[in-house]
Amino acid sequence: MGLRDRAFQRAFATTFVYNILFEDSEVDETYLGLDADSTVLSISGAGCGIAGMMSGRPRRVDAVDINRHHLALTALKCTAAQRMRVYDDFYDLMGRGWSHEPEQHIAALAQHMPPWVARYWKRHAKRFRKGSLYLQGLTARMLGVVRQQAGLGLDWARQVCAMDVDERVTTLHRTLGAIDTPVLRAFMSSPVQLMALGINFQQRDRLVATEQSASMTDYFVEHLTRVMSTDLWNNWFFWYAAAGTFNHTQQDALPPYLRQDRWEKSLNGPTDVRYRHGNLFDVLDEAGPGTWSHYTLCDAVDWMPPAVQRRLFEEIRRTARPGATVLLRSVETEDPVQAVGAEFLHKLPCSAEASLADRSRQYRQVNFYEVHA
Ligand SMILES: C[S@@+](CC[C@H](N)C(=O)[O-])C[C@H]1O[C@@H](n2cnc3c(N)ncnc32)[C@H](O)[C@@H]1O
Repeated sequence: MGLRDRAFQRAFATTFVYNILFEDSEVDETYLGLDADSTVLSISGAGCGIAGMMSGRPRRVDAVDINRHHLALTALKCTAAQRMRVYDDFYDLMGRGWSHEPEQHIAALAQHMPPWVARYWKRHAKRFRKGSLYLQGLTARMLGVVRQQAGLGLDWARQVCAMDVDERVTTLHRTLGAIDTPVLRAFMSSPVQLMALGINFQQRDRLVATEQSASMTDYFVEHLTRVMSTDLWNNWFFWYAAAGTFNHTQQDALPPYLRQDRWEKSLNGPTDVRYRHGNLFDVLDEAGPGTWSHYTLCDAVDWMPPAVQRRLFEEIRRTARPGATVLLRSVETEDPVQAVGAEFLHKLPCSAEASLADRSRQYRQVNFYEVHA
């Protein structure tokens, strides 16, 4: 990893960047195949994916992240899904990101969270009073600036949903074209915005080269253009970006853990979730053979140079249960597993379907692998 990306990782680790996971956790739910015997090692990000696992009631989840803000948010999402007994209270807090009495709810959940997480949320409960949790954090603020400049919001989101795909794309380009100034371009390409997009310098250089985009602003617009051809009414990434909130009128438009049927399955669930603040490799180092049946890695593999990727896959091989499943996302064109010759990870055929289904439209690859010892 180059110097710039080391600095990027250090800055990223200490900043509240995301409040949602930018990965389609419905895809994970469909293909991961969790059951009562599953043990999962998972990079958390903002935790919508791990919170979604609670309804599958696996035996154990080890949630790890170098970013304590993301891990604390993951702990809150999981604990709320397992412990809040009134769906409307749960939905206000985690779906709307707003509550009349966040301190009271958080105090009730605190006893089920690690002490450092309970202290974190005691300090930050006011995030649920200031408009909404979903307007806070670096990415939400960046999108807020774009929305404000371009006049986006709930009405715009509804109008665009009702259009056909060509009309949507024309409207998107016209709306964003109107604010395409040198100042906005400079803002979008600054290192802070890379952090908001979760893209390190190495990824940025490769993305701009492979997409043949002139800049990060063009990449951003191209990405939103891809989103336009999805089922927008149910695409929570679209609503989050365009309106700063989810589409609260449809359960299918929510990350699965927020839906009432999933909450019913998660409530009082048996899953032992452990929150490990630190590097994935530290957690792997401490583990013995046969520890996990599932690994979910977000797109963190893209942040690693090839030698580190290879070491990660070897560590997975060493700690996996027979036939374990690995899920990773990548913005690259080449399969990262193949690229480093980790032939003991066999790509599963469902990867093609999963890559097409992911409504975030951020990844070229959403790959599932089976571990062969
Ligand atoms: C790779 S980032 C990228 C964005 C991601 N696709 C999302 O939607 O959140 C996701 C998460 O991985 C974490 N992360 C990256 N490398 C890590 C590592 N080696 N160990 C633990 N967490 C890591 C980051 O802190 C971040 O919360």
